Amino acid sequence: MTDLYARAQFATAYIKSQTSTAPVLGIILGSGLGNFASQVENATAIPYADIPHFPQSTVAGHSGKLVIGTIAGIPVAVMQGRVHAYEGYAMPEVTFPTRVLGQLGCRSLIVTNAAGGINTSYTQGGLVALSDHINLTGTNAALGPNEPRFALVPGAAQRFFDMSAAYSRTLRELAQKEAAKQGIDLPEGVYLAVLGPSYETPAEIRAFRTLGADLVGMSTVHEVIIARHMGLQVLGLSLVTNMAAGVLDQAINHEEVMEFGLKAEARFTSLLLALIPQIDAA
Ligand code: 6GU
Repeated sequence: MTDLYARAQFATAYIKSQTSTAPVLGIILGSGLGNFASQVENATAIPYADIPHFPQSTVAGHSGKLVIGTIAGIPVAVMQGRVHAYEGYAMPEVTFPTRVLGQLGCRSLIVTNAAGGINTSYTQGGLVALSDHINLTGTNAALGPNEPRFALVPGAAQRFFDMSAAYSRTLRELAQKEAAKQGIDLPEGVYLAVLGPSYETPAEIRAFRTLGADLVGMSTVHEVIIARHMGLQVLGLSLVTNMAAGVLDQAINHEEVMEFGLKAEARFTSLLLALIPQIDAA
């Protein structure tokens, strides 16, 4: 089976054979945020290893399973762990799960990540709602033959597709309203993606700030490109696990990235739990 669409359908059929829940919302959990999957009720957890053609992560802190069930009564599909291009996966593999979330019936996607803070008004452990992104990974997830059958809404899955409202203003405003209600700081920001796996140099971070970036990371943009290709609505949330290189006079390490995920967990969880039913109604 070589055709991407056929592979995605095959994986989707397998997942559907494991659960009667038809998810309407997909959630991709970034580094340190994986525990949110335990919020899913009536959960069916499917290891990525069991799903045909699903890529498996090689990074610590990205345990790979798809958890399908309900949150606040809304049928959801939660990806606990994702794969990254820096692991050596090709674009169609990195975004394969996003394709499958769409085919499972999701119409909205919450994509989350751990990111380095470039904007000096951010604080370590803070959450940011993505308003836009800058893809500096040097590649594009929609490379290759276009497949119109991936369209989830009329007009989607064109060869050339619009990215001018990649991150839904409606979903972002819902998140900001809910955050304000809960007393959680939720500034907006532009996420710049690099390939990784090296973190950036201070000179790169200064350059990225000049380019208009508030956050830097190694994920998210590929999934968002594919989500928009299919016609999914996207909410992007970053957890600022550390300030980017040169912002503070200290080195960056992955353990710190994971630790701040745990520290932000309570805020992240209560924000998402309240938000999910609102997204379904939006
Ligand atoms: Cl500082 N850079 C990148 N590329 N990804 C990160 C990060 C920094 N901090 C967390 N993830």
